[in-house]
Amino acid sequence: MERRILFPQIDGIMHGGDYNPEQWLDRPDILAEDIRLMKEAHMTSATLGVFSWSVYEPREGEFHFEWLKDTMDRLYENGIYTVLATPSGARPAWLDEKYPEAMRVDDYGVRSHHGVRHNHCMSAPVYRKKVAAVVNGLIDAVGDHPGLLMWHVSNEFGGECFCPLCAKRFQDWLGEKFDHDIERLNRAWWATFWSHKYSDFSQIEPPYRNGEFSSLGLTLEWKRFTTYSMTDYMKSEIAILRERTPQIPITTNYMKLFYGLDYRVMSKELDVVSWDSYPLFHNDGESFADTMGENAFDHAVMRSMKRDRPFMLMESAPGLVNWQPCNKLRRPGVHELAGMQAVALGSDTVQYFQWRKGRGSFEQYHGAVVDHLGTADTRVFLEVASMGALLEKLSDIRGTIVKARTAILFDWDNMWAIDAMRGLSQETKDYPKTCVRIYRSLMRFGVDIDVVASDDSLDRYDVVIAPMLYMLRPGAAESLRAFVERGGQLLATYLTGYVDMDQLNFLGGFPGEGLAELFGVVSEEIDSLYPSDRNQVNFSDGTAGTVQDYAEVLRVMDAEVLGTYDSDFYAGTAAVTVKAHGSGKAYYVAARLDDGAMGRLFERLLQAAGIPVSELPDGVERHTREADGKEYVFYLNCSDEPKTVSGVWGASLLDGQQVAGELQLAAYGTAVISQLQKERT
Ligand code: GLA
Ligand code: ZN
Repeated sequence: MERRILFPQIDGIMHGGDYNPEQWLDRPDILAEDIRLMKEAHMTSATLGVFSWSVYEPREGEFHFEWLKDTMDRLYENGIYTVLATPSGARPAWLDEKYPEAMRVDDYGVRSHHGVRHNHCMSAPVYRKKVAAVVNGLIDAVGDHPGLLMWHVSNEFGGECFCPLCAKRFQDWLGEKFDHDIERLNRAWWATFWSHKYSDFSQIEPPYRNGEFSSLGLTLEWKRFTTYSMTDYMKSEIAILRERTPQIPITTNYMKLFYGLDYRVMSKELDVVSWDSYPLFHNDGESFADTMGENAFDHAVMRSMKRDRPFMLMESAPGLVNWQPCNKLRRPGVHELAGMQAVALGSDTVQYFQWRKGRGSFEQYHGAVVDHLGTADTRVFLEVASMGALLEKLSDIRGTIVKARTAILFDWDNMWAIDAMRGLSQETKDYPKTCVRIYRSLMRFGVDIDVVASDDSLDRYDVVIAPMLYMLRPGAAESLRAFVERGGQLLATYLTGYVDMDQLNFLGGFPGEGLAELFGVVSEEIDSLYPSDRNQVNFSDGTAGTVQDYAEVLRVMDAEVLGTYDSDFYAGTAAVTVKAHGSGKAYYVAARLDDGAMGRLFERLLQAAGIPVSELPDGVERHTREADGKEYVFYLNCSDEPKTVSGVWGASLLDGQQVAGELQLAAYGTAVISQLQKERT
């Protein structure tokens, strides 16, 4: 595997953040100080222009890019590169005043107002036209600037618009999808139910009130359409950038496992995936290690969208954020730990929102590298600067990738379908949370895990976990079967294979599409348990697991029963089974089991697949990046106590020491151990 270095101009792992000099144009002293402080903090990039439209174009057609060019010049002269955003995330007042159709409309038909952000209609021709003008202006001004490193398209795409134009595009999109045959749509949506049949595509309205009582087909297709529409909008910006600056890579900044958009569809248009990570550190509902574990899952989701190259941590908070229910300070050491976690999971950048705190408005108390105090001796500044110094030492890591042999399947439309389906318990479906829990249980063995779509190629994996794969994408069942037949270890859970892509149930037994034969079981009923209900699974090896929330009652055809229910009317019947296909195995876990019991099953799968497992102290994560025959193993102590990891051999990249057997990690401490692959035992 060869390295794929994103930014050869930058030595070390890129270190940067959102920078808003346009808020300080009347303070040249502060702008000069910024450059001095950035160098002191070992910054190698700045993200400019995210919300600069009203300064670029204060009146329609009157452009001012001088300050931008001047800023980019000064940054570049000081070794700092620019990630340049297109400014479409918030519109200037003149635009909304003159062209209100640029603002989106909610499902009650009420148009949004000027003065917030991210509230555009993605279909509005005038919005697209005005964005094109300012983007072309940007390219004219700085498109050939030597400091221009990449394009950052708009900001955190999200939301939906119900205006007549968007509704019409929805109808047209459905027309295309269903070959302009309304009866095909009626069949797919089971539309004779509640008299929902249409006779023409023009009758279809977007779902009202979040689709509360709408047909399931309507709500699901609306979500798919929203992804299409957002992607189509994004492509309208990308087309200009690609044509005029083909050498400059393009990204847009995502928000974790964002509910409203299928990021996989959008990522096809991007060169690099980047995202904004704001975990709720130190909250009172879960352990710090669990919060870190969920963040690791999110990094893995991002990484897995482009498995052959690094991703970018586009934003993260120095110190704290200002929009969580309780904005607690990151404890000393957590800054470095969170940054290193991103790198460990495949990011080639650590970037912040933002460089300097503004004096006013919504985000004046959001963490920044430079506080209102303005000096370089604050706790946060010092932690950021030391992170920067550390990242400079990690040049060798650039372009290496995480090569996971284990994958969790996660699909956006499966998530939407599970939520929309009326059944089970609305409170405890928890599909994403279930995926996160599984990810964390697997991560405890020191293995890396990709998070991929159920119809992505599984060729590179030896262990695949399919949690709650309710909806089967075309080809997914076939791919799982081929995976097991070539020796793969597969584990699926309750709620597998109930519906097709139109949410129509499979007839003749779940899991459908031949998966019942693959697992050797049919799921006849699913029991939803009240929050205080518990059952137990007794395993044939003498261990037991606790059941919560869901328990399917199985008919076993030709699978081996590994565990049975302990109580209730289905006591003694199969809860966990396995069916062998040569050396490949298909496990079925019919109930929501506790993490310990799931962990024991995962260990069994990993061992059967020949994937080495590590014994890690509680709260320690281990991740591996590799390329050119070298491995870099990251250890992250996600706890506030020192930890010792045994069985570690190699050179520590951060302090140059040789580690022979035992690795000491300080509280929240990290280590990167470099080893040749052939040295691996
Ligand atoms: C998002 C946005 C930024 C800023 C931060 C605050 O990630 O992209 O503009 O609002 O949140 O955390
Ligand atoms: Zn609209």
